[in-house]
Amino acid sequence: MAAHALDRHLALVGFMGAGKSTLGPLLAERLGRPFISVDEVVEERTGESVAEVFERRGEAEFRRHEEDAAADVLARRPLGVVELGGGALGSERTRAALTAHAFTVHLETSPDEAWERVSGSGRPLARDPDAFHALFEERRPLYDSADASATDIDGVVLAAAGVHFASHRELAATAVIADAHVAELHGIEVTHTVPRGEAAKTLAEAEQLWRRLTVDRTATLGAVGGGSTTDLVGFVSATYLRGIDWIAVPSTLVGQVDAAIGGKVGIDLPEGKNLVGAFHWPSRTVIDPTLLETLSEEERRNGLAEVVKTGLLLGEPVWEIGTYAQVRTCAAYKAGICLRDPFDLGDRAQLNLGHTFAHALEAASGYTLSHGRAVALGLLAACRLSGLEDEARVVENVLGPDPVAVDRDTAWAALQRDKKVVGGEIRLVLLELPGRPGVTSEIEPARVREALDALIA
Ligand SMILES: NC(=O)c1ccc[n+]([C@@H]2O[C@H](COP(=O)([O-])OP(=O)(O)OC[C@H]3O[C@@H](n4cnc5c(N)ncnc54)[C@H](O)[C@@H]3O)[C@@H](O)[C@H]2O)c1
Ligand SMILES: [Zn+2]
Repeated sequence: MAAHALDRHLALVGFMGAGKSTLGPLLAERLGRPFISVDEVVEERTGESVAEVFERRGEAEFRRHEEDAAADVLARRPLGVVELGGGALGSERTRAALTAHAFTVHLETSPDEAWERVSGSGRPLARDPDAFHALFEERRPLYDSADASATDIDGVVLAAAGVHFASHRELAATAVIADAHVAELHGIEVTHTVPRGEAAKTLAEAEQLWRRLTVDRTATLGAVGGGSTTDLVGFVSATYLRGIDWIAVPSTLVGQVDAAIGGKVGIDLPEGKNLVGAFHWPSRTVIDPTLLETLSEEERRNGLAEVVKTGLLLGEPVWEIGTYAQVRTCAAYKAGICLRDPFDLGDRAQLNLGHTFAHALEAASGYTLSHGRAVALGLLAACRLSGLEDEARVVENVLGPDPVAVDRDTAWAALQRDKKVVGGEIRLVLLELPGRPGVTSEIEPARVREALDALIA
């Protein structure tokens, strides 16, 4: 079974009235892929509406057209979001084409909800409520062949990225590697432990794992811990035996909304953070919100800074909702952007909102400043330079970032060395409006420096 839609079509299946035609185009836009409806392809080819084909040529002929159209569409490139009709999975040929070319998500609905949506629509199979309910029951088992199921757009995006909400106890990995502190706190049975936090992201720890692992190429490594653990174990998985599967089980808020999603993995060098790494998408990310119960206040605040960042990028007050909903919304946002830009060549840059300032302050503090506090300050500067005073106040109220005591010239020099600085031009992610990020190099260096200085005590 496919684990995610990174290198395949995303196929939407489900009973009529589940909302496929409404969600499909929205999903396609979010993932930057074309939307293709198999029904529409049949209509183009026959020159008749689906209802007319049913009526004039009969269901069997419609199904033949549907099978051919599905096979053609699934063989096409670029990868798309493909909507199939409610009965398409009845065909063995279509099921085989989906297995070969798509990650298939069942968009779930109830028979009553579906009837409410489609009765009176004139659809050939939605004219009589009893027959409709009977057909719903008859088709229900067909959808079990889907790779995942979902009830809303965030659910589909999460499934497409391989992100699932489940208990960490259900982790099915050949070898489990965990942050030593997390393993102890949560009584996790492990094959290997790694030092807690950032100390895990070293070449020495990677080498330890490479040398101690005894698994073969069919193995799946499980990584339980914060972003440091998932970055390290993901990197070891990317390199061991030229690449094996891995499952990320993030145990921090940062991990659940950010680090364990999107496939960037790596380690630090004495010369700098994340200097050696790879893109190696986890076959699954298992989010278990109960792991967060033991998180320290400081680690929670680190995560909250990324939550506020996501809320600003989305233009929604995500910081006001409960933790579970926060994690789900932010994880889905990151999953969508990373599916759209898996190799960080474009849109993914917007995830760096506030981070150019944050990295400069972290460097100037000799990395004693926490990432969360640095990001909170960076978001403040980004909102101010975007001319969004209300949002700057939200950052102040929710994250309360106090100015930090670092050397101003050192911070400014670090900012100019940022990897987003191209040919001496400072490129910043700013917000046209909340929910409308963009990369700009039009801000005068003097104003950038002024914004940076305002963050320093
Ligand atoms: N790959 C990516 O896309 C990406 C994105 C963001 C951050 N990162 C990386 O993630 C790292 C930071 O990760 P992080 O902030 O998740 O923290 P972390 O992994 O560094 O852990 C921080 C501390 O929290 C503890 N901890 C972890 N889970 C806990 C729990 N459930 N209960 C109690 N304590 C717990 C750890 O033992 C450690 O002491 C950085 O190295 C950063 O570069 C990567
Ligand atoms: Zn960050």
